[in-house]
Amino acid sequence: MMTKISAADISHKRLKTQLLVVPVTAGELKSKKSRRKRGADDNAAISFAELDAKAAKEIKKLLRSQDFKGKDLEVLRLSTLGSLGAAWVLLVGWKDKADSLFEELSHYRSFGALLFEHARKVKAATLHLSSQNLKLSDERHLAALLEGLMLSQYSFRKYKSASDDDKFTLRELVVLTKKRLSEPVIREVTTLCEATALARDLVNTPARDCTPAFLVRRCREIARRGRLRIKVFDSAALKKLRANALLAVAQASDEPPYLIRVSYMPRRRSKTRVALVGKGVTFDSGGLSIKPAGSMETMKCDMSGAAAVIAAMQAISALKPAVEVHAYIPSVENMVSGHATRPGDIVMAMSGKTIEILNTDAEGRLILADALTLAEKDGCKRIIDIATLTGACVVALGAEYAGLFSDSKTLAKKIETSGELCGERFWHMPLAKEYKGLIKSSIADIKNRASSGPGAITAALFLKEFISKGTEWAHLDIAGTAFSDADKGHIKRGGVGFGVRTLARVVLGYQN
Ligand code: BES
Ligand code: ZN
Ligand code: ZN
Repeated sequence: MMTKISAADISHKRLKTQLLVVPVTAGELKSKKSRRKRGADDNAAISFAELDAKAAKEIKKLLRSQDFKGKDLEVLRLSTLGSLGAAWVLLVGWKDKADSLFEELSHYRSFGALLFEHARKVKAATLHLSSQNLKLSDERHLAALLEGLMLSQYSFRKYKSASDDDKFTLRELVVLTKKRLSEPVIREVTTLCEATALARDLVNTPARDCTPAFLVRRCREIARRGRLRIKVFDSAALKKLRANALLAVAQASDEPPYLIRVSYMPRRRSKTRVALVGKGVTFDSGGLSIKPAGSMETMKCDMSGAAAVIAAMQAISALKPAVEVHAYIPSVENMVSGHATRPGDIVMAMSGKTIEILNTDAEGRLILADALTLAEKDGCKRIIDIATLTGACVVALGAEYAGLFSDSKTLAKKIETSGELCGERFWHMPLAKEYKGLIKSSIADIKNRASSGPGAITAALFLKEFISKGTEWAHLDIAGTAFSDADKGHIKRGGVGFGVRTLARVVLGYQN
């Protein structure tokens, strides 16, 4: 359940709340008068100056005794001991200068996360927020703050026996302002954050439970609730389609493979058919090219691309963009057995190209190859794939940037700007044709790993072999950004849900 967001113009006298949060600048603390920066909401119902005047003695005294300078997101929580309508006042240091829009929105997101953290500390089911110094009339800033507030509430409890302190929920955030808050923004952010939580749940669910069949069941539920079309290709259907690259990865596992297609049709017929393709390896042991134990520990996350696509479809079914969207989720488990694909085996992919599988751990590109071919066959002229594809991408970009590969400057820009709004950064990498030689095979059309060189790029070049000339295509390598080893503000340890909001926003930006 997501927090209800509302706006209210409550005077200081009538305010009754457990927790009142006031963002204050260092300047305001120093001077008597509150000086507000341009662009900030001048319609705050309750300002620091007012608070200062009403409870001047108490707050001044407390401020003097504490070392609170109003620095960036510095916090001071004060118990008012009944002298104010709020049991607690939380002053948050506010700096409104940032180096870039991304930084500024990140700041709002962190602030949102901080609000939830303190509401939990004092068990305030309702929180009142003074809008002074905040630019909440700007939709982007409002969205970022709400994202921080909603995403930081996520926790994965499915496998934990319940304990009391888990029970806290922040029911409502009341923004104290004379203006309105944009309802469509609140609705959109809530939908996108619910979808992000779904993606996180899917990624966090261990591979023992999160199997390809499990993903099929989740997709069926989402399709039913959101009135989406769904078609599931099982092994027999995949054999008929000659999806041999996908089947080669699945053949050592006892879990049957699936290729799931979920389709959204807009009310008015659209000429634009967008495909979202997500890597759904529910566990990547590496196959016979087996991974070392340490690298295998988090490999339940290898379906993060699929999770992002599935969750984006849930959001899309609610937010109803103007274009057709088809999601393709190739899902397999990459295991070892007497039936395993051997390094050196050659398969013919659905497209007709032959692939020499030299490393069974480079399996993502194999299942994606067949899914991309199916998307092409279905007439999708715009394709975005998303995958935890290469360790090389983690080396290149770390956990803060995902790799973006595309020959289309327009599509790359769309992805970058959509990402910028939701705190997801992409770095445009080169699809340099000079490296194509690295995946040339001497006995097949192509091989699935390069012997040396830039691994994230050669993986992207491999995928490009399955894209035809007229298609606008982008590949997103989220190997470094999909899974977090620690809590960081609105990001929680485990599945990040990376890509859900960016993908949904890209699609929402398309005109019919
Ligand atoms: N699933 C991995 C990539 C990965 C690494 C995801 C780290 C998340 C975190 C992928 O299937 C893989 O193993 N790729 C190999 C490719 C190589 C054998 C050409 C890699 O990156 O080492
Ligand atoms: Zn692998
Ligand atoms: Zn993998």
